[in-house]
This record gives sequence, C-alpha cells and structure tokens, in this order.
Amino acid sequence: MNTLAELRRRFAAALQPLTDQDLQPLVDMVRPSQDARHGDYQANCAMPLGKRLGQPPRQLAQQIVDGLDVAAFCHPPQIAGPGFINLTLRDDWLEKQLNAALTDPRLGIDQAADRRTYVIDYSAPNVAKPMHVGHIRSTVIGDALTRTLRFLGHRVISDNHIGDWGTQFGMIIYGYKHFLNPQAYREAPVQELARLYRLVNQLVEYHQGRAGLRAAQKRVAQLTEQLEAQREAPPRADPKEEKRAAKALKKTEHQVAAARHDLETLTGKLKQVETDGTLGPLARENADIASAVLRETANLHAGDETNRALWQEFLPYCLEDIDRIYRRLKVQFDDTLGESYYQDRLASVVSELQAKKIASHSDGAICVFLEGYQTPMIVQKQDGAFLYATTDLATIQYRQQTWRPDVILYVVDHRQSLHFQQLFATARRWGYDNIDFAHVQFGTVLGDDRRPFKTRAGTTVGLEGLLDEAVQRALAVVSQNDDLKETPELSPEDRQRIAEIVGIAALKYADLSQNRESDYIFSYDKMLALNGNTATYMQYAYARVRNIFVKGDVDRDRLHESGAVITLAHPAERALGLALIRLSEALEASLEDYRPNQITTYLFEMSEKYSTFYQECPVLKAQTAAQRASRLLLCDLTGRTLKLGLSLLGIEVVEKM
Ligand code: ARG
Repeated sequence: MNTLAELRRRFAAALQPLTDQDLQPLVDMVRPSQDARHGDYQANCAMPLGKRLGQPPRQLAQQIVDGLDVAAFCHPPQIAGPGFINLTLRDDWLEKQLNAALTDPRLGIDQAADRRTYVIDYSAPNVAKPMHVGHIRSTVIGDALTRTLRFLGHRVISDNHIGDWGTQFGMIIYGYKHFLNPQAYREAPVQELARLYRLVNQLVEYHQGRAGLRAAQKRVAQLTEQLEAQREAPPRADPKEEKRAAKALKKTEHQVAAARHDLETLTGKLKQVETDGTLGPLARENADIASAVLRETANLHAGDETNRALWQEFLPYCLEDIDRIYRRLKVQFDDTLGESYYQDRLASVVSELQAKKIASHSDGAICVFLEGYQTPMIVQKQDGAFLYATTDLATIQYRQQTWRPDVILYVVDHRQSLHFQQLFATARRWGYDNIDFAHVQFGTVLGDDRRPFKTRAGTTVGLEGLLDEAVQRALAVVSQNDDLKETPELSPEDRQRIAEIVGIAALKYADLSQNRESDYIFSYDKMLALNGNTATYMQYAYARVRNIFVKGDVDRDRLHESGAVITLAHPAERALGLALIRLSEALEASLEDYRPNQITTYLFEMSEKYSTFYQECPVLKAQTAAQRASRLLLCDLTGRTLKLGLSLLGIEVVEKM
C-alpha cells in the first residue's frame, strides 16, 4: 500500500467541504516529515487555505483534523505551530503492514489502479557506429522505467528505434567499395566494418575540415583586426564608457584566443592526416568523398540493388554488435523497429500532412510551421529526401495502429528537445492528441575536465571498453574486500562472476542515481565506492543481510513458518520498519516524472536506517527468542526490499561479496 497516497486521499475528503477550490495543490502538501519529531507525515495545507479563506490557520487545521478519517492507521493528528498537522502512524498498524509484506512476493505493493499502455523508445543507437557512453544513459534509464512500469501492472512495449538507415551506411558502403580488406572481413566482419566506418569518417572529416579552413583563418584575421582597433581607441572621458570598453576588449581577447585555438586544432588535425603514410594518400585520392558518401546513401534509399544488398548483408553484423552489449547489460527489447522499418510509409505521411494542410511547400521543401517556433519542422527536402522527423511521425502512426498506447516515452538526450517539442505538436495537430507524449531527456556524461567524457587518446569511449574497465576495477574491489576477511571465502571464479555483476551494476547505478537532466562526471572510483550512494554499497548491504542468516544458521523458510512476527520496540526498529513500507511511495514517485533516482534515493535512505538498526539492535544475540525472530524477519524484509528495488533498476544482487 502507498501510505502517502492513502493519506492524501483522506485529506482530500476532509478538505472537500471546506473549499471549492482545486484540492490538488493542498493535498500535495501532505508529505513525509523531514524530522521524526514532527511525526511520520506532515500536512502544511492549513496555512495557504487559511490565507485564501481569511481564517486563522490553526482553527482551519482543527477543522481539517475533525473531518479527517485516519484513525485506522494513525494516532490522533497533532496540530503544531501556526497550523501544521502532524501524523504519526500507529505501531500496531505498521507491524501489520510489515508482517503482511513478509508473506507477499510483491512485498505489499499494489498494482496501479489505472493500468495504461506505454511505448518506451530508448537506447536507439545509430548502428554501424560504435556505441558510446551517451547510449548507456538512454539504455539504462529506459530499462529501469520499463521494469518499474511493468511491476506496477502497466502494459509496456519497449521499442529500440535504432538508426539503421542513415549516412553511416553510405559511409560503410563507400568504404566497402573502395577500401575493403576481404580477408579481414571474412574473419571478423564487425571489426572490418567498424574500421571502414572510422576510415571513411576520418576522410570525410578531413575534407570538411579543409573546406572550413578558410573560414577559420578569416575569423582569426577579422577578430585580430577588431582587437587592434579596440586597443588603439583613445581613452573615453566618461568612466562608465571606459569601463564598458574595457569589458568589450576583454571579450574580444577571449574570442581571439578561442578562434586561434580552433584554428590550431584544425590545422593540427589536417596535418596529422596529411603526414600519415596511409591516410595522406587516401585523402588526396578521395577528394570528393563527402558527396560520394551522400550519393551512396541516396542510392540506398532510392532502392539501388547493390547498395540494398550490401545493407542487407551488413545489418545483421551491426545488430550482433549491439546485442553483445545488451546481453552484458541484461537489457531486452520487445521490438527493434529501426528507422528503415518505416521507409515505405514516409511518402504517404507527407501527403497526408499536406492534405490536412498541416504541411506546406516552402523554398522547395515541405514543412510544418508551428506557432511559437522560429524554424519549421521539415518533413521532405527539396531533393525529395525524407528526414528524421518524417520517420518519427510515421513511427507514431504505426505505434498507434499497432498498440494504441496511452503514453509514448522517448528517452533521448536533451539536445533533441526542440525536435521532440515540434514532433509532439505536429502529432497532436495530426490527430494523435489522445496520446501522452513525453521526452524523458537527460544530460551529458562528463570527464574530469567537465567536457564530454573521452579517453586520453581523444576519441569518445566505446561502450564495451567502458564495461570491461568497470568490471576489471570491480574485481579489484571485490578481491580486496574478500582478502580483508579473516578467512577469504571467494574462489577466483566467484570473484570474476561477482565482479561482472558489481561492475555493471556500478555503472548503471551511477547513472540512475543522478537527476537525469543534470550532466554528471564519470568516475570509476566513485561508482565503485563501498560507502555512499552506490550500487556497490547496496550490494554489500544485501550480502551482509544474507550473511546473518548464514552465520546464525537460520533457515528462512522455517523462520517464516514458525509463526514469528515483527514487533517494533526499539526506535531504530521502528525507523527501519517505516522505511520498509515506503518502497511503494518511491516507485510511484519515480513514475510521476520518470525519475529512477527517486528509487535510488529511497534505497540509500532505507539502507542507512538498516545500518543504524544493525548497530543498535543485536540480531543473533537478541535478548529473547521472539525478539531475535522479529529482528531476523526485519533483516529478511530489508534484503528482499533491496533486491526488489534494485531489480526494478535492472541491477542484480549477489549473495556473497
Ligand atoms: N538514433 C537517434 C540518435 O542516436 C535516437 C533516436 C531516438 N528515438 C526517436 N524516436 N527519435 O540520435
């Protein structure tokens, strides 16, 4: 049961007769108390309501309390200060909840009353390019949302909308036609295709860089000239103006420095290619590579037989490449309908939008103009090509026809927010206004230098290497921890198996525990710390809970069958018990705005309550048999709550660590 939600319902009933204004904001003011001295929950709604009605808030608080029916689970509400209503759950009720949770595989968590259908669009890498750290965020957040929604009884379709139709295929097709090493391709096709992609991409970037060289030089020259003029200007009489001029000078100085830096980086990069024994000649021989790649892509889209056949040949290799990562992350999708899947539908989407006067011709292209946006959303280019947005519109149509979703979630980084705003607005105008669309956006993963996370070599980190390193470091943590025990208990194979689980968990948890909209700094040391808000800490806590049963030689089934019950006597027992019944609140809160960090925060706070309990309340050496059994049951419920909560985040636990 979600206690907070139940209390809010009871408050709504009590507030109803007192006002005819919207109750929701008042009801939302019923919250868990920050300070245990004010009870378990606190309602501050009497103050704003008093203001609105022109009545003393304490008096109103009394009226609310008079109409409040919570006697079944709370002590009589207390009114404090200017009109706070403090609620304390009754211990006998808490005990009843806990004992009921013990016998329930769902730990007392109800399914949602209103079950909905969700399509979740996440992960969605552009295949044939190596996946990088950015993809982990979408994958991990989407997976956590999928699991949590399903657990609460919703119907969820997870759909991996991979980019399998973009320019990257033009690149590998070009690479295949010009630079293939047939033997390497036979032996390790994925690696050879990746090599071709990197090579062609490098050459394209080289020529684009060269094309931009002039502009970069011009910018430096212009800014330098401007700087000189500013420096030579005579001093102003007006001190305010003088100050302004000084500020402007500083700004130009910065701009010059930045432009010089850009130019140097660019010339450096160009030189690197030109002086390279292999790349240099290739760059010279393939001068029009950028447009050739676009041509290969256009031919693929137009149905050119050779290119289609090559695409068909490459795609399974690309999919196998990303599946390897998903297997390690233990992430599965119901569907993987990539961009290519919708190609046959794009023309009719555009004509339908035109017929409905939603899209119109503009400068040769076909566009959707939306109020409030400076730029239109283009659905077909002048040359006839369709765009990312067109595919997304066709995808909405398909999803509606196939699954009739109530909600579609897009777990995609924040840089695409304009695209999704325009997409949703267009879809609504098109008639899909019964679907709740949400862009579940997230920030960037940063390195120590606060720039997008890169390896020392300067290339964005491949996902596989990232997983390997996390596991390798987890192995060190696990081994060290085991070595510190009086008698180490893990075999080398155990250590390796546990390290794989701990390493992947650390990576996932580090991501999920962030406010998803913030950028965060990637740190192996932090994510694998044995103390703090990390998966490693939780997994360790879980293993310790389980160890109590091993140490005490307690059979859990027998304990449950013995008729023993949880009784809350010590304050630390009560605090832990209260935390344990609140998982349901955390799960629902995490879904309100699609924030898995609500679950990690909950688990962390609950684990801390467990720590205090463990320090203050002897379990195996409890004073009476009943107390020992009650405490063991609390430990058991703690372990199961940790395990369930983590599993909804896609994180596994280990019995020993
Ligand atoms: N493949 C895209 C990218 O890597 C993300 C796709 C997100 N989903 C969507 N329906 N647009 O940027």
